[in-house]
Amino acid sequence: MSPFSARFKNINGDDTYPLDEIIYRSKIDNSLLEVEHDRNALASKSPEEWKALFASRRQSFNPVNTSGVWSKRELVLPEIAEKDIITLEEGFTPLIESKTLAKEIGLKKLYMKLSGNSHTGSFKDLGMTVLVSQVHSMIQKGAPIQAVACASTGDTSAALAAYCAKAGIPSIVFLPAGKISTAQLIQPISNGSIVLALDTDFDGCMKIVQEVTADNSIYLANSMNSLRVEGQKTISLEICQQLNYQVPDTIIIPGGNLGNVSALAKGFDDCLAIGLIQKKPRIIVAQTQAAAPFYQAFQRGFNQLEPLQAQKTLASAIQIGNPVSYPKAVRAIQDYNGLVVAVSEEELSNAAHRADRFGFYTCPHTGVALAALEKLVESGDIDKEEEVAIISTAHGLKFTEFKVAYHEKSLKEIHSSFANSVFYTPPQIDSVMDILQKEMKARQH
Ligand SMILES: Cc1ncc(COP(=O)(O)O)c(C=O)c1O
Repeated sequence: MSPFSARFKNINGDDTYPLDEIIYRSKIDNSLLEVEHDRNALASKSPEEWKALFASRRQSFNPVNTSGVWSKRELVLPEIAEKDIITLEEGFTPLIESKTLAKEIGLKKLYMKLSGNSHTGSFKDLGMTVLVSQVHSMIQKGAPIQAVACASTGDTSAALAAYCAKAGIPSIVFLPAGKISTAQLIQPISNGSIVLALDTDFDGCMKIVQEVTADNSIYLANSMNSLRVEGQKTISLEICQQLNYQVPDTIIIPGGNLGNVSALAKGFDDCLAIGLIQKKPRIIVAQTQAAAPFYQAFQRGFNQLEPLQAQKTLASAIQIGNPVSYPKAVRAIQDYNGLVVAVSEEELSNAAHRADRFGFYTCPHTGVALAALEKLVESGDIDKEEEVAIISTAHGLKFTEFKVAYHEKSLKEIHSSFANSVFYTPPQIDSVMDILQKEMKARQH
C-alpha cells in the first residue's frame, strides 16, 4: 500500500470526500473542491530524495515514467494501481529558451513551455490522463459509470475523446456549433465520441453538461472536476525540474475557464511544500478583451465575478464569460503576486506571428500570453532583467484557419504586421532570381 494519500476537500471549508466518490462540489456549501494530499507523508522524503526519484524515472522507458504526469504520481493520484493508469505519455513537453525572441522583445531571458506538443495538441492531455485513469479505476471497482462527458471549446473534447477511446470508455462532448477549429472538431469525431454541436456558446454547453451529469451514470470531465487540476499542475513541477529547480521570475498563462492557472499555482504550492524550490514566481493571466471577465474582476479588486457574454475572438478556446474556476484563480493571483492583463485581437495575432518568425508555431491563445508580455515589458511592469516563461497552451497546427487568414491578410480589422506570402511564378530562372534577390535583400535586417 502507498504511504501517500489524497482526498477531495472543499476549498472554503473542512468537508472532505474520498477520490472514489462521484462528486464535483461540496455537499455543504456547493464550493469547488480540490485534491488535498497528505503533506506529512510527502515530507517523509527529503527534497533531494524527490529530485533523485524524478531524475531516475527520466532514465526509464516504462510509460508511467515517461509520462510527465505519472512520473510525479505520488503527488498526483498516490493510491491508483499502476495497471489502471491510462496514459498517452503526456507531459515532459519542451521548455525552449529563445534568445532571439527575448532580444526582439527587450528581455533578458524568455522560455516557451510548449505544452501543446502533446498527443492531442494541447495541455488538456495533462489533466485528462488523470481524470480518465481515476474513472477507469472506479469502473474496475464496480462504479456504475457508463460514459464521461464534457463541454468544450475544442481542446478538452479532443483530450477526453482520445483518453476514453484508449480506456474503452464511451465519451460524450458538447461543443458550441461553429465556434471551434476544424482540427479540434475532427479529433473527437475520429476517436468515436458522441459529438453534439449546440447552437450556443461554451457557457451554454457547460449548463447542459452539468444537467446531463447530474445523474451519476455519466461522469463530468470539465475542469470543475478537480482531478484534472492534479494532472495540469505537473507543468509547474516539470518547469522546475527542467530548470534544475530554479524558478523563472514571471510566468504568463492565457486564461479562459481558469482551471489552468489554478493548476499552475497548485503545482508551485507543491514544489514549495516539499522543498523543491524556495522562490515563488509571479503568475500573470492573459485574456483577450473579447472575453475578459477575470481581467474586469481584477480591475475591481476582485470584489466579485460578473459573468458576461463572451464575444467572438480568434482565441476561440478562451471565449468564456463565466469562468468556473474563478475562486481558485483569484487565490492563485493573490498568492503569486500576480496580475491580469487583457489584449486586443490585433495584438494577439501579431504577437503570435512575431514569435513564429523565431521558429515557433503558435496558437492564438499563446499569442494572448505573448501580447501581454510585450505590453508589460513596454509599460515596465516586467523588468528587462526578468526571466519570463510563457505557457504555450496548444499546438499551432490546430489553428490553421487563423494562421492562413493572418498571412492572407484576411482577418477582419487586423493589420498583419508579419504576414508572409507565397510567390506564384512560372518555372523560369529569370523570374525566380528576380524574386529571390528582392526578398533576400528585404530579409537582411
Ligand atoms: C489552447 C487553450 N489555451 C488556453 C485555455 C484556457 O485554459 P483554462 O480554461 O483552464 O483557463 C484553453 C482551454 O480552455 C485552451 O484550450
